[in-house]
Amino acid sequence: MDQQQLKIEAAKTALKYIQDDEIIGIGTGSTVNCFIDLLEPYKNRIKAAVSSSEVSTQRLKSIGIEVIDLNDADSVPVYIDGADESNTSLELIKGGGGALTREKIIAAVAEKFVCIADESKYVETLGQFPLPVEVLPMARSHVAREIVKLGGNPVYRAGFTTDNNNVILDIHSLEINQAKALESKINQIVGVVANGLFAHRPADHLILATKNGIKEY
Ligand code: 5RP
Repeated sequence: MDQQQLKIEAAKTALKYIQDDEIIGIGTGSTVNCFIDLLEPYKNRIKAAVSSSEVSTQRLKSIGIEVIDLNDADSVPVYIDGADESNTSLELIKGGGGALTREKIIAAVAEKFVCIADESKYVETLGQFPLPVEVLPMARSHVAREIVKLGGNPVYRAGFTTDNNNVILDIHSLEINQAKALESKINQIVGVVANGLFAHRPADHLILATKNGIKEY
């Protein structure tokens, strides 16, 4: 099985979390795209979706699923999203697709956060994948300098603007052993909107597709 097939297997396994006549939270990325593509037969059972990006919103709408504003959602029983890395505590790095802030907001609201991923995402220590940080454009250099003080090597994601009209710094060279502490420290830098560490709000479940089958944590 190649990586794309593993993503589809993870997405298929997550279908069991769909609850009739409830709002579903939908993340962003190629693994989530596999999940959205499986949703068409369920569209009459799903009340509506809240979405973490314009791209996912368009994909959901194209198969006839209504997408509502999160402020209009009375509850979000389940949120399905991918990740760039997960450790064994289900602390995540997210934001490779640049949607981390809206992803964090939906994850905060959701009762259950189910992460879907192929086995390449499961790591012992977070940080091999550069940590994305969404930053207000005028604060970019200031935030970069502060990140260097924390031991990271920030790289501006050139030519990319988030759905919130901000920019992304990807932090290389981090070995993240204390994810919660680092998440808090980065959030304290003025100009940071959000960072891609999901440690204070980790996933509740991880569906990991491996060459030997699905593993659930
Ligand atoms: C987007 C994300 C994605 O969930 C993450 O980048 C994983 O994407 P993919 O499923 O394409 O590997 O956080 O901001």
